[in-house]
Amino acid sequence: MPSNMSRYQNIIFEEQAEVLANVSFKGEQNIMRLRAPKTAKKAKPGQFVHIRVSDTLPLRRPISIMLADPKTGTIDLLYKKIGEGTRQLGERKKGEILPMLGPIGQGFDLSDTAKRYVLIGGGVGVPPMVFVADQLVNKADLVLFAGSEVEFPFALKPSTFMLPGIAGNTTLTISSLEERGIACRLASKAGLYGCYEGHVPDLAKDYLLALSDEERGRCILLSCGPHPMLHAVAKLGRDLGIPAQLSLEEFMACGIGGCAGCVVKTIEDGQEKYKRVCVDGPVFNADQLPEFA
Ligand SMILES: Cc1cc2nc3c(=O)[nH]c(=O)nc-3n(C[C@H](O)[C@H](O)[C@H](O)COP(=O)(O)OP(=O)(O)OC[C@H]3O[C@@H](n4cnc5c(N)ncnc54)[C@H](O)[C@@H]3O)c2cc1C
Ligand code: FES
Repeated sequence: MPSNMSRYQNIIFEEQAEVLANVSFKGEQNIMRLRAPKTAKKAKPGQFVHIRVSDTLPLRRPISIMLADPKTGTIDLLYKKIGEGTRQLGERKKGEILPMLGPIGQGFDLSDTAKRYVLIGGGVGVPPMVFVADQLVNKADLVLFAGSEVEFPFALKPSTFMLPGIAGNTTLTISSLEERGIACRLASKAGLYGCYEGHVPDLAKDYLLALSDEERGRCILLSCGPHPMLHAVAKLGRDLGIPAQLSLEEFMACGIGGCAGCVVKTIEDGQEKYKRVCVDGPVFNADQLPEFA
């Protein structure tokens, strides 16, 4: 056990999460609501839970927390069924209990409320961005850009918020965000109506380029999604001189810092260091990650 693992032992706990709903959407997507009051109380945007999806699969699966409501004691997850574990998760029914470790990891740093947070999520990287937006609303400026190559598993509507640099045919937003006053636009290469036709970092770029130097100077990029998308976001940040925080996905075994199966190379104070994505991440500053430099 690494010597610094003990500092996570009081933070990560196992909770018997009860399935309240597990709704399927197009594109092999599901949104699951779990009753997990301890996790709901502690969860922070960017953190994830490590779920035992069934008795037949001993290895847990990591899934980001999309929303946590300490009042109702519930958390929401959005996952894509890509293999055996997530397929079995899709079969779980209301009332079933899932042993779950959580909340795990270092999430996004949202402490500077003078910043304008520009959230860029792609595919199953959208859920942590929804959680960030939920936590930042009424506290800091924010705008969310979400990309998907399959239909979004959310109710959508035309947005009434004007955003600079965004083409007039890029109208749609996520209804629940619009109702809370959160500006958002969507991107897809699948020809989805009302969405920007292209990759989501390019949509964010159009917006950022239309800002004044002063406004752009206040921005910070937060992103989660597939690696090519994170590379594009890191480049966008470098090109425009905007700091970026990236949430990484790595194959995980223990998920609690014990096996070093998820390490990634980082640079800190000029020194190379290997960090565990599960507990030292999954969120890192882009300039800490040589892979994204
Ligand atoms: C921090 C974190 C947050 C995540 N959040 C989400 C989310 O919100 N929604 C979502 O749909 N998916 C998310 N993922 C990816 C999700 O964990 C994988 O899709 C899932 O583990 C695949 O399991 P499987 O058995 O269905 O697929 P298989 O491909 O059959 O999995 C086989 C093995 O590979 C591992 N594995 C496969 N793909 C990944 C991957 N991308 N990352 C890590 N391990 C993988 C599995 O744990 C399993 O041990 C997240 C991953 C990480 C690391
Ligand atoms: S998965 Fe074991 S240390 Fe991260």
